[in-house]
Amino acid sequence: MSHSIKQPNMQDYDEAYANFSWKEVEEAFSWHESGKVNMAYEAIDRHAESFRKNKVALYYSDEKRDEKYTFQDMKYLSNTFGNVLRNLGIEKGERVFLFMPRSPEIYISMMGTLKIGAIAGPLFEAFMEQAVFDRLENSDASVLVTTPELLPRVPYKELPSLKHIILVGDGEIPNNSKDINFYVYEQEMRKASRELEIEWMDREDGMILHYTSGSTGKPKGVLHVHNAMIHQYQTAKWILDLKEDDIYWCTADPGWVTGTSYGVFGPWLNGASNVIRGGRFSPEDWYSTIEKYRVTIWYSAPTAFRRLMAVDEEGIKQFDLSSLRHILSVGEPLNAEVVHWGRKVYGLSIHDHWWMTETGGIIVSNYPSMEIKPGSMGKPFPGVEAAILDGEGNEVPRGQMGHLCVKSGWPAMMRHIWKNEEKLNGYFEIPGWFDSEDLATMDEDGYIWFEGRDDDVILTSGERVGPFEVESKLVEHPSVAEAAVIGKPDPVRGEIIKAFVSLREGYEKSDGLEKELREFVKKGLAAHVAPREVEIRDFLPKTRSGKIMRRVLKAWELDLPTGDLSTMEK
Ligand code: WTA
Repeated sequence: MSHSIKQPNMQDYDEAYANFSWKEVEEAFSWHESGKVNMAYEAIDRHAESFRKNKVALYYSDEKRDEKYTFQDMKYLSNTFGNVLRNLGIEKGERVFLFMPRSPEIYISMMGTLKIGAIAGPLFEAFMEQAVFDRLENSDASVLVTTPELLPRVPYKELPSLKHIILVGDGEIPNNSKDINFYVYEQEMRKASRELEIEWMDREDGMILHYTSGSTGKPKGVLHVHNAMIHQYQTAKWILDLKEDDIYWCTADPGWVTGTSYGVFGPWLNGASNVIRGGRFSPEDWYSTIEKYRVTIWYSAPTAFRRLMAVDEEGIKQFDLSSLRHILSVGEPLNAEVVHWGRKVYGLSIHDHWWMTETGGIIVSNYPSMEIKPGSMGKPFPGVEAAILDGEGNEVPRGQMGHLCVKSGWPAMMRHIWKNEEKLNGYFEIPGWFDSEDLATMDEDGYIWFEGRDDDVILTSGERVGPFEVESKLVEHPSVAEAAVIGKPDPVRGEIIKAFVSLREGYEKSDGLEKELREFVKKGLAAHVAPREVEIRDFLPKTRSGKIMRRVLKAWELDLPTGDLSTMEK
């Protein structure tokens, strides 16, 4: 990284906002003259060739493993994996999906994939068969890296584009067939060279595909390009506040955008040491992780903080959390109480900020140098214009609610929805602006406050769930005639998923059936999208054209006014 660049000083938000230029940020990268780029080179190799060569890039641990990898280790391992893919004939632009529990191998294979110019597609480890199928099918992935344990959830015989499955770890390996070949990761890695010619990319070439949900249709593949690095680098520098000696821990899984943009790219672009902890959440485990690595910067989500609030002060005192100097939160509303609690127990303010899978990087934030208003998400990042607009694209007066919109053209903006131009256009109906469909207000001082979603997307435990995906699964059950799914407010999880179903003839309402339906979604799709509550009803409210009115169910459920019912079928 060239240190001679003069950049605005983030000690003063207004000054930084006024003087910022993305062009100047570009000069921080090795490619700014050639124009040819590769995210993995900038995140790994550049440091491996610098004074950071022996610096730890990744600390990984779970119940069984405890390992660390320097930038140089990561360079050679990702090179080797890149060669594994090249030896299979994989080329630039092909989709390589990663479906594994958190492990060093995810990061090695992700970086190796990027190095040969292929597009990485990380999948959350909790996905079950239908969820895996939908994503691999839509993306026409040709390679999948997974574990023998997760393989039974991959319906590879039904996925004609899928040619190669690389299995990480021990377990049974199925026989090859004419349509598909299986490989053992360890064996292939031993055979491949650690010297690799990186594929130099255009800034606009595809890099990573994250599937996410809207209120209608199956999950959609949001494509980000190598150019996103400019945004991720600078936001990580200023918002995560990364300095040379920091130990950074982002708790998000790489199956979600937070776990890549700020779990890997942002921190590594800044040459930071990254902690990855495998396994499940527990307060003891998380606090021990902070203590063990002396974590200085900790990035998590409101649900996790709310669950940590259950640990009393005596419980917290058993851990040495004195290394912490900066805490951040994203993904769902961070209540003011949680900020106050954080100040009390950690002596630090939890910094909220806002962005989406589609934005690729942070858009609105509380900066370390800025006064926090607990409950607010902060202010737009320099170089980004965000505003609260009405349906016509006019800015609403301060204090009034509208859609949180972002002026098109920020560097990490999604470039495509995979094979769905129409969906992409749907975000840009206000000319020149990206519409998040989040409802928000801006106060007199320019701080932005989250109010809710203006569609049916559910935010549960920090994860974004589309009702359609869950409904589609429910109606596959032989007893279900129709299904509608809503988010119901919950003090810890933000929202929980509640399903309303009507039954086919011959089926009776029972507690057993409700439980069975929940299990059905859990086994078919994923545990985190399984409805915590299932209510069987005689009929579901519908428009005259037959569309189920989720908003009416939600209003009934919450005892709220139902609004305009003129289109409802009587
Ligand atoms: C919500 C996660 C309140 C919002 C990075 C957005 C938030 C969706 C916040 C994106 C916040 C994100 N306060 N709500 N600070 N940050 N959201 O794509 O509704 O998983 O549209 O990206 O999460 O979720 P996604």
